[in-house]
Amino acid sequence: MDIAVIGTGYVGLVTGACLAELGHRVVCMDRDKEKISLLNNGVIPIYEKGLDELVARNVAAGRLRFTDRMIEAIRGAEAVFLAVGTPTAADGGAELSMIFEAAEQIAMVMESPLILIQKSTCPVGTSVEIERRVAAVLAKRGVQIPFHVVVNPEFLREGTAVTDFMQPDRVVIGADTAEVGERVAMLYEKIVPKERILLMDRASAEMTKYAANAFLATKISFINEIANLCELVGADIESVRRGIGTDTRIGPAFLAAGIGYGGSCFPKDVKALIKTGKDAGYQLRILESVDEVNRQQRIRQVEKVIQHFGGSLEGKRIAVWGLAFKPGTDDMREAPAIDVIHCLLREGAEVVAYDPIAMPQAQRVLDQRVRYASDALSCVDGADAVLLLTEWPEFLGLDLHLVAQKMATPVLFDFRNGFSPNRAYEAGLTYIGVGRKTKVSLKPITEPITSTK
Ligand code: UDX
Repeated sequence: MDIAVIGTGYVGLVTGACLAELGHRVVCMDRDKEKISLLNNGVIPIYEKGLDELVARNVAAGRLRFTDRMIEAIRGAEAVFLAVGTPTAADGGAELSMIFEAAEQIAMVMESPLILIQKSTCPVGTSVEIERRVAAVLAKRGVQIPFHVVVNPEFLREGTAVTDFMQPDRVVIGADTAEVGERVAMLYEKIVPKERILLMDRASAEMTKYAANAFLATKISFINEIANLCELVGADIESVRRGIGTDTRIGPAFLAAGIGYGGSCFPKDVKALIKTGKDAGYQLRILESVDEVNRQQRIRQVEKVIQHFGGSLEGKRIAVWGLAFKPGTDDMREAPAIDVIHCLLREGAEVVAYDPIAMPQAQRVLDQRVRYASDALSCVDGADAVLLLTEWPEFLGLDLHLVAQKMATPVLFDFRNGFSPNRAYEAGLTYIGVGRKTKVSLKPITEPITSTK
């Protein structure tokens, strides 16, 4: 199929490159000329595992091209993916001007029948509004060209986006007719069995994307609240996580307690769904709490650091391991590190940070007072404490004896629960995690069961 993809952000670029890999002829379009010129010179503007080879291979094979001109992108195309940003608007809802603008531009230049595929995450009703706007532009042009708007949300995780695209759990397609839904389903038939292509109406497909992200975010805020309670009552969240995650009804995924979620999706989508609820006259109380718990979780961890140092961080040197919102990406959007570091600075601490790949991105958003180290070990040199904020394997594999030796006071705040507390104690570090027992027994617990209940 001849396909155009509008928007060469992380979703657009991955979608375009993967569809080309599947044998389709793809043109990726972005109005950002600089980005297109980088791509045309073989430079991938984002860090995503496997994407550079995928792009290079498909460009070389003549299946993938880049352009900054809409007319060139959609000429001869049968389907157009809309993969532009839908950031948070001032009122918490999704800002849809970019997707409407892209759809209207398409309508202004399209000459033949087209399926518009809404890939961007958009609130319920957006596809119908796109349809209305495209029809209005075509009417103004005085032409009658058949078109459809189909909703096909993405569930890609940064860092594993290429494999997530190529081996999806499911593909969700929302269409107004079964025929057009099946036409889009054909795009995926090589990578997913037919029974896992879920055809539905458009509103349900739009809602599915938000409900999926909101549910995963709920799991995270839930486990973080239980972790906070564990700290107060002397239970260990890692044991509790195993204890509940092995129940197949609950499942082990997204139950890692820590500093809370960040990134370009969860914070934005939870807020947008709350706004959709408000607009519809329904208060989504669980999600309001999910959002609030996530905000508080960052503050709570900084409070633990302040408390440890007797109420002030004045003159303390704090090392920060990890800046990106999660490992495997250089993305700093809504990264917990931003709030944490600003709080530390406000409390008078000196901050030295290190991240294997996100430092160039971090420098753009963090306070200029932050110093950057050249590696994980030099980062902790003379530090009064080290905070693990992103669980990169590079940190977790460090020799903690060396770490302890380098520090002025050997204190490890493991805000991703990435280390074994016992390993830290053995290395001479004071260990403070999230919801973990401050001192875990080295031997298996053999307490006799006294209760017969
Ligand atoms: C997410 C969804 O997983 C994906 O389906 C959707 O398309 C986009 O949003 P992504 O933002 O790339 O993907 O990251 P993900 O791996 O889901 O993690 C999101 C955040 O939650 C990260 O900050 C991560 O550190 C945090 N997280 C995740 C936890 O705190 N605990 C967990 O158990 C899992």
